[in-house]
Amino acid sequence: MKKITFAIAGMGNRGTQYASKQLKFPEEMEVVAMADNRRIRLDAANKYLRLPEDRLFNSAEAMIAQPKMADIMVIATQDAQHKAHALAALEKGYDLLLEKPVSNHLEDCRDIAAAARRLGRRVIVCHVLRYTVFYQQIKKIIDSGVLGKLESVEMAEHVAYYHIAHSYVRGNWHKEADSSPMILAKCCHDMDLILWLTGKKCLKVDSFGSLDHFRRENCPPGAPARCTDGCPVKCPFNAPKFYLSRIPGWPTSILHPEPNEENIMEILRTSDYGRCVYQMDNDVVDHQTVQMLLEDGITVSFQMLGFTARQTRTIRLYGTEGELWGDFKSLDLHYQRFGEDAVDVDLASMNVETSGHGGGDTRLIYDVIRLFRGDDFDTSAITSIDRSVESHYVAFAAEESRVKGGELVRMEDFTKKLEEK
Ligand SMILES: NC(=O)c1ccc[n+]([C@@H]2O[C@H](COP(=O)([O-])OP(=O)(O)OC[C@H]3O[C@@H](n4cnc5c(N)ncnc54)[C@H](O)[C@@H]3O)[C@@H](O)[C@H]2O)c1
Repeated sequence: MKKITFAIAGMGNRGTQYASKQLKFPEEMEVVAMADNRRIRLDAANKYLRLPEDRLFNSAEAMIAQPKMADIMVIATQDAQHKAHALAALEKGYDLLLEKPVSNHLEDCRDIAAAARRLGRRVIVCHVLRYTVFYQQIKKIIDSGVLGKLESVEMAEHVAYYHIAHSYVRGNWHKEADSSPMILAKCCHDMDLILWLTGKKCLKVDSFGSLDHFRRENCPPGAPARCTDGCPVKCPFNAPKFYLSRIPGWPTSILHPEPNEENIMEILRTSDYGRCVYQMDNDVVDHQTVQMLLEDGITVSFQMLGFTARQTRTIRLYGTEGELWGDFKSLDLHYQRFGEDAVDVDLASMNVETSGHGGGDTRLIYDVIRLFRGDDFDTSAITSIDRSVESHYVAFAAEESRVKGGELVRMEDFTKKLEEK
């Protein structure tokens, strides 16, 4: 069987996650090169990949400069780096597995998609949720027609209080200028799911939201600049309390590939991860809502909820003949045709992996292997860039609306303006 080979640019959280799938699919995939400017990340992954020194690169640029060495290049560097890395790798002849968001700039998304078309390359965007059993079952239920004609969609992303503090107040995505607006960074997955599940285009969008809580004026009196400086306040965002209770596992694995109490405390004393959440320089929103009108009159209401106890996504679909409701994290999925009993969809019996985006990370890699091997399987859920950029355009349009106080954005005008730029 032909092994599909991968070169990985960016061995942070995501790059490492994809590399680790070689342990799951040793006969089917091989990571042949990797790049990161943090040697500690290369060394951690190389404990099991065992690549020779000349296949370890201290930058994506240095790796891409080499003659093409793999079937696929994974672009798992930060949002603002995707454009340069993706375009250079496409020119070099690589097909790509490209982390979402495609880019943090609207025009870049268009340009990367255009380059892929011009060069005849495949670009698969890592919308991992589409590959989960949970969302694939929902797609099957909608397409089977048991709900009748879909009229309304309610979806919510429950980010969780600790995740918003970790990633969007202290972490990589806390400043829009360095990363992406929240609705793109976190919720382009949800925009993608809405378009894919319904099979419709978005016609109009509006949005409201703000950064309301994680601001200096809400700082409790007496809180020092760092939680590690003996903060007297009883606070759910206390950094040592949170991170030390999560060794090992996410997100301490992001702070250090081999976390222990000593190295985590040192990182908390010296990095943003130990700073008071009320005294950061963050500017991304902590809650946001998006309304959409899709083709066929389908209305959509989506909420990005920063202040939730649990980290999950919820969905409710309303059709002319039935209703569906589910909770991603607890693998809870039901539907009911009007006048009939509710049906519990038994996801637990379907061997669903619960880690790594509900198994989406593993199934994405498996589908990519099958796609590149030329296997005969249903590829309709593959997240190719052309469909994926549509979800990004909706996210950018929602952000434009939010910034303008909720002004209505017509997608036709929005994309026309983009074409003219
Ligand atoms: N698909 C998903 O659900 C999902 C989830 C989280 C993050 N992401 C996206 O994945 C991407 C990576 O996120 P992450 O959480 O792994 O971040 P990360 O910061 O953990 O990883 C990025 C890595 O890139 C490295 N890097 C920086 N400059 C480099 C260069 N020039 N060459 C090579 N490596 C370089 C950094 O040292 C770091 O290790 C981001 O775009 C993020 O938005 C996607």
